Amino acid sequence: MSAYEAAFRLWRGNVDGGDLEDFKVEVNDGEVVLDIIHRLQATQAPDLAVRWNCKAGKCGSCSAEINGRPRLLCMTRMSTFTRDEVITVTPLRAFPVIRDLVTDVGFNYAKAREVPAFVPPAELGPGEYRMKQEDVDRSQEFRKCIECFLCQDTCHVVRDHEENKGAFAGPRFLMRVAELDMHPLDAADAEGLDRKTTAQDEHGLGYCNITKCCTEVCPEHIKITDNALIPLKERAADRKYDPLVWLGNTIRRRGR
Ligand code: SF4
Ligand code: SF4
Ligand code: FES
Repeated sequence: MSAYEAAFRLWRGNVDGGDLEDFKVEVNDGEVVLDIIHRLQATQAPDLAVRWNCKAGKCGSCSAEINGRPRLLCMTRMSTFTRDEVITVTPLRAFPVIRDLVTDVGFNYAKAREVPAFVPPAELGPGEYRMKQEDVDRSQEFRKCIECFLCQDTCHVVRDHEENKGAFAGPRFLMRVAELDMHPLDAADAEGLDRKTTAQDEHGLGYCNITKCCTEVCPEHIKITDNALIPLKERAADRKYDPLVWLGNTIRRRGR
């Protein structure tokens, strides 16, 4: 394999608008899309804005859309594409553009703050926590998240429906709720916090129709839908149809 010239089409612009701009750029063996973006900055577009930090698929900051698919720029090999393919790179569509390929992902930080933190069990001190290995493994999968927000970007609930953003936490943060709800030591219930109810009422679990698009784009291969969202939905439904919960709610309603 030898160096060749690829056709790139990049979105350039800012909050006021923008357009696609065409480039021809050299590609060498083993390069990823972020290498090409850096070559463009060095040779043809010194003011091109792109966000990145690690170039190792671990910081989650180089998220963008390549030929319409949410991907990490640093983990997408040029060998993924044929040499005659035009490679179009655009900013994440679900979030507001700041400039060129950089978006404002503040929506996600706001959603993160809305999920109440782990509640430590009152009767145990630091160092006294004990968990079964299977419980550790379950949350460990979710802990691989690098917060790239590709899943948040691809989820159709917010991707094409700005109006849903207020009521929907998105797959990354519903996964966080699921992780805490599955945590055997989380004492939220004792504090009067029912994570299953808040998943429905405050984080918009009902909007998710388990299309699995979030799982498909996750660079950490976390089974977001199968291992977090579906179990959370099942647990929320169990709670709704639990006869004791139903009786309690009915008595409370009659007492008003
Ligand atoms: S499975 Fe649910 S959260 Fe994931 S993309 Fe589909 S609707 Fe969104
Ligand atoms: S769950 Fe996967 S796609 Fe979503 S933010 Fe975390 S690493 Fe990215
Ligand atoms: S630069 Fe860190 S994930 Fe791509």
